Amino acid sequence: MSKAGIKMGTKEQILNRLRENGEFVSGEELSEQLHISRTAVWKSIRSLREEGYEIESATNRGYRLESCPDRYSAAEIGAGLETEFLGRSVFCHDSVDSTNEEAKRQALAGAPNGSLFVAEQQTGGKGRLGRSWTSPTGTGLWFTVLLRPGILPLRVSVTTLLSGLAVARAVRSLSGCDAKIKWPNDIVIGSKKVCGILTEMTAEIDRIEFVAVGIGVNVNNTAFPEAIRDKATSIRMESGKPLRRVALLQEILIQFETLLKQNADSDPAFWEEYKRACVSIGRQVKFARRGAAVTGTAVDVSPRGELIVELPDGAKETVTAGEVSVQGIYGQKAE
Ligand code: BTN
Repeated sequence: MSKAGIKMGTKEQILNRLRENGEFVSGEELSEQLHISRTAVWKSIRSLREEGYEIESATNRGYRLESCPDRYSAAEIGAGLETEFLGRSVFCHDSVDSTNEEAKRQALAGAPNGSLFVAEQQTGGKGRLGRSWTSPTGTGLWFTVLLRPGILPLRVSVTTLLSGLAVARAVRSLSGCDAKIKWPNDIVIGSKKVCGILTEMTAEIDRIEFVAVGIGVNVNNTAFPEAIRDKATSIRMESGKPLRRVALLQEILIQFETLLKQNADSDPAFWEEYKRACVSIGRQVKFARRGAAVTGTAVDVSPRGELIVELPDGAKETVTAGEVSVQGIYGQKAE
C-alpha cells in the first residue's frame, strides 16, 4: 500500500524532474539538483525501468521519460491531477477485498474528505443489490472516493448521479465512445454496461458521517465470462484501443469534483445534461412495486433524481430506487 503525502524519495524526485522537463536531463544535472551521486541517479533510473517506466538514455544528453506504466501509484495518480480535494490522499492496493470496504475502514480511522482508494484487483468486489462485481487484475478501474459532505442523507442519491455523469463525461472525452447513463447510474455504451457505481453511507437521521462512492469501470478487458458476456462491455472493446486507466481515473476525479463544487444538482443545466445522457428516458421500463412488476415509459428525471414513469393509463409514477430494467438495454425485450 502506498499513501500520498509522505516525504518524496529520490526515485520520485527524479521522475518528477523527467516529467516536468519532457526532454533529456543529464545525469550530472540530476545529481547536482538532488544532491546525490551519479551512481544513485543511475540506480534510481534502473529501478524505475524495472517498475515499467520507459526511460531513454543517450550519451552526452542524459535521460528522457518516454512512457509511464499503467499501474496505480500515488505518484502516477498525483502527476498532473488538478483537483483540490478529490484524490489528494491516495491509498493504492495490489489486491483488496473491496475498495468500498477499505474506504469505510479507513473512514472510521479518520481518512480525510476526498480520499481515494484504488486497487488492481478486488477479491470481494461488491455490486448493487447484494450482487458481486467481477474485478480481475490489470484491466479495470476499481476505486472508491470517500466524501464527508455537509449534506442531508436524502441528498446522497443525487451525489451518486453526479458521479455517474462525471464517468460518462470522462469516458466520452478520453475514448470518443458515446457513453450514456442507464438510470440511476450504470454507464452504458450501446446496449451494454461499461461501469457500475455503488454508493454506501454511514449516517444518523440528519447528519452524514461519510459516503463511499465506489466506481467500477471495465477499461481494457478484451473478453468477459459467459454469464455476463451479453450485458458487459469495456471501453477497449468499444473503441478498439487500449486506454490508460490512470488517465481515466484522473479525468473522472476532475469531472466529479467540478460537479460537487458547483453543487451541480441545483442548476437546471445539470439536469438537462443528465437527461440528454440518460438512455432510460423515452423507453419502456419495468420495475417492481410492492412485489408486482409494473411497466411504463420513462419520461423524466425529477430535480431530486427520481425517475418519472408514465403508466399505460397516463398516471405518473415516481421511482426512487431499486432495479429498473430498460427495453433494449442489457438484452431486455419489449413487454
Ligand atoms: C453495480 O452493481 O453496478 C455497482 C458496481 C460497483 C463496483 C465498484 S468497483 C469499486 C467499488 N468497490 C466495490 O466493491 N464495488 C465498487
